[in-house]
Amino acid sequence: MSEKKQNILITGSSGSFGSFICREFLSEGHWVTGIDLNDQQSSPIESNQLDLWRFITCDLANSGQVQAVLDEAHSIRGAFNLVVNNVGLIYNAPLLSFQKGKLQIHDFDAWNKVLSVTLSAGFYVTALCAQKMVATKSPGVIVNISSICATGNAGQAAYSAAKAGVNAMTAALAKELGPLGIRIAAISPGFFDTPSTHANLDEDKIAHIRKSVPLRKLGQPKHIMSAIRFINENDYFHGKVLELDGGLTI
Ligand SMILES: NC(=O)c1ccc[n+]([C@@H]2O[C@H](COP(=O)([O-])OP(=O)(O)OC[C@H]3O[C@@H](n4cnc5c(N)ncnc54)[C@H](O)[C@@H]3O)[C@@H](O)[C@H]2O)c1
Repeated sequence: MSEKKQNILITGSSGSFGSFICREFLSEGHWVTGIDLNDQQSSPIESNQLDLWRFITCDLANSGQVQAVLDEAHSIRGAFNLVVNNVGLIYNAPLLSFQKGKLQIHDFDAWNKVLSVTLSAGFYVTALCAQKMVATKSPGVIVNISSICATGNAGQAAYSAAKAGVNAMTAALAKELGPLGIRIAAISPGFFDTPSTHANLDEDKIAHIRKSVPLRKLGQPKHIMSAIRFINENDYFHGKVLELDGGLTI
């Protein structure tokens, strides 16, 4: 991380990755703004960090709410130096399933919600933050959290499609924003040892995955953090997806 104090935005800041990333950047003395639907009570901020920390409640899938909270955040400390689009909704459902003897299809509202939270939220945040960076001539760095599911996971059509969208959006915006001095890149995590993983997979499946990973372990939030630091510091890394999966997808 650079020596200079940075103004950093993290979405999905109350979750497993988000709260870890916020705590790390705060411990380094940066200004950190976290946005989430749920408040941050579960993620203790040290009392000597309170002046560095701002938490904003917002439904990131709602473009009007995102516009309002970012207008306010920008009015306080100006453009962000680093934006981490971390919010995402892991969702498991097959396209077709038998329930009580009847053939059911994937819920359409669930499809829309997963796409809104996992893909559209990052687009809204990126657009508004990039606009402020350009208007104030202070280009920054944008990191999108994707997933190895972007290649298509059975039973996760919505989540996979959203993450494939994140990767494509990252590449397209890299071509547009690079000439303006704004860098954007993505991180594609494999399986991480987080409550969301344990909530979505049974322990037998997790044990099987662990054996399938060449490094024989799940990732930890510290690995996401070091990938964010790498992208933030390396001013020639742009438009690419950094795969962080212990070698699972080799
Ligand atoms: N944990 C993993 O193993 C893993 C693996 C690959 C990718 N990812 C990705 O990493 C990111 C973070 O994952 P995580 O495990 O920390 O997830 P998490 O479920 O712990 O955290 C997600 C956070 O997003 C918030 N959120 C959900 N909908 C929202 C909305 N509409 N508006 C505002 N906030 C909302 C939730 O309140 C929660 O705090 C996600 O994009 C996820 O897809 C995670």
